[in-house]
Amino acid sequence: MHLQALWRVRSYVKPHLRTMVLMIVAAVCGTVVAAYMPIVTKQMIDGPLAQGDRPGVKPIVLLFLAIGVVDGGLAFIRRLMLAYAATEMETVMRNDFYAHIQRLDLAFHDRWQTGQLLSRANSDISVIRRFVGFGLVFLVVNIVTFIYVIGVLMTMHVGLALLTAVGFVPVAFVSRRFNRSYGTVTRQVQDQIGDLTTQIEEAAQGIRVIKAYGRRETMLAKFMAASKEIQHTSMAQTILRARFFGLLGVIPKVVQAMVLLAGAYAVAHGSLTIGELVAFFSLMVMLVWPVESLGEILSMGEEAATAAERIYEVFDTPPLIADKPDAVNARTDGPAHIRFHDVGFTFPGSTEPVLRGVNLEIAAGETIALVGATGSGKTTLLAMIGRLIDPTQGSVLLDDLDVRDLKLASLRSRVSVAFDDPTLFSASVRENVLLGAIDAGDEALRAALEVASATFVDELPWGLDTRVGEQGISLSGGQRQRLALARAVVGRPAVLVMDDPLSALDVRTEEAVHQALHAALQDVTAIIAVHRPSTVALADRVAFLQDGRIAAVGTHADLLETNPAYAAVIGDEPAVLHHDADEEEVA
Ligand SMILES: Nc1ncnc2c1ncn2[C@@H]1O[C@H](COP(=O)(O)OP(=O)(O)OP(=O)(O)O)[C@@H](O)[C@H]1O
Ligand SMILES: [Mg+2]
Repeated sequence: MHLQALWRVRSYVKPHLRTMVLMIVAAVCGTVVAAYMPIVTKQMIDGPLAQGDRPGVKPIVLLFLAIGVVDGGLAFIRRLMLAYAATEMETVMRNDFYAHIQRLDLAFHDRWQTGQLLSRANSDISVIRRFVGFGLVFLVVNIVTFIYVIGVLMTMHVGLALLTAVGFVPVAFVSRRFNRSYGTVTRQVQDQIGDLTTQIEEAAQGIRVIKAYGRRETMLAKFMAASKEIQHTSMAQTILRARFFGLLGVIPKVVQAMVLLAGAYAVAHGSLTIGELVAFFSLMVMLVWPVESLGEILSMGEEAATAAERIYEVFDTPPLIADKPDAVNARTDGPAHIRFHDVGFTFPGSTEPVLRGVNLEIAAGETIALVGATGSGKTTLLAMIGRLIDPTQGSVLLDDLDVRDLKLASLRSRVSVAFDDPTLFSASVRENVLLGAIDAGDEALRAALEVASATFVDELPWGLDTRVGEQGISLSGGQRQRLALARAVVGRPAVLVMDDPLSALDVRTEEAVHQALHAALQDVTAIIAVHRPSTVALADRVAFLQDGRIAAVGTHADLLETNPAYAAVIGDEPAVLHHDADEEEVA
């Protein structure tokens, strides 16, 4: 049974075990006190009432009141303490989940829908919190209550008590059957919610495309169909629950009827007083709620188990790219040297390799342009230097050490990447640029912005403190690209990896970036994936990627002359770095 999944949550519950046990004990004490009330009632009926002793009534009533007040106060404290423990557990679990999905590799994120991760992080973790903070506690309390009350009933009348206990046995069978079918349908609902979350997320992110293509109606129809499906499954879930709760509601009534019958018989034959029968019956009423609520608790447990299963599917996925136990630090000084040795790569699930035997050496301080047709594998190759992916064949060496033998943190502080798709986070310009070099001061930040010609930031409403990204102002594609470039150069990394970093810039801005970047690249080992001859001019040499291999290496002019395929990909303009004539005159 999959309730085992729930057992795995114990490490999160453990820090709160003392609070929980304490609260359970408090709740049980409450039950014991409550179970004492019918006995007081019995004393009242058989004592003062039967004997007409009026002064004897008052203390009993006061006792009732006092017990009620104390019980209420305890319940309040109990709820607060439990809620605190449960929300604390939920917070820790959610933080761990976030940390784990950050550690997971790109292949994992390619495979998983964002909505499935979102629904796990939000609703599944909350479901577990509700069960731990409420269901679990009452499960224990109810079982203890049941045993205790049956025990007290035994002291009153063994026969009737046994009849009561046996009468409740069918509950066990009904619950077992319910658990089995409820688990399946719960999993279905929770998975469907994940899919729906993905749709909402994509609709929000792709709103421009949806509107521009007039696909609002189609998307809405798709969404409504998915919503309807959830409604159907939820209804199936509810019908199961309703049937189960219905049965659970009937069982105690049947038992009560039997006890009433047998009790009346016992009173008639003098083996029980009326007071005793009333007490017995009121005590029995205490069993009704624990049994009826069992349904609610079991369904909560079932939902929590499913939620735990879904969460552990993510926790159980180990990050494929992680430090080896004997990983060493990368060098921290001097320019770096990079070598691709027989590198091949095949995407998971694909049979055709994207790269097959790439050999390329980039000398310390050299800048290489990587040219290749679209889809030839440039982005894939570049991603291997900072270990965003690992080659499936061969190796990438940084300063003659396999990057897989280096500590990730040290590798990534030596290698900096400007991606082709510049992502900005909901944070200030400063935070976005200093993402990888939090300790770099304002001076380094300024220099990086100069290199990337991103001085437009000064015109933003709050300058460097302007919030950008989803929660802030929107920047243009070219502006975002320049911030991403500034982010890559800011820490003065030894290795700079740039994936088509200037694709969104106009010619003038591109030239300006070239000027500054050319200077900044002097003592840096760099590899730039490029599509335009203008950017090739930044490089000392060009490597041409074709059919998954480096087909040729040389200067732009050489390759144009010797390799027609190269000219076909990049065009046959000369690669020249335009120098600003005016500036040169002034200098
Ligand atoms: N996550 C992925 N899963 C499966 N195949 C992929 C994945 N990413 C890329 N590919 C495939 O791998 C090939 C190389 O892609 P890559 O992004 O490296 O090309 P590229 O040279 O950078 O192209 P471009 O110049 O358009 O940026 C493409 O055919 C692409 O379809
Ligand atoms: Mg690419």
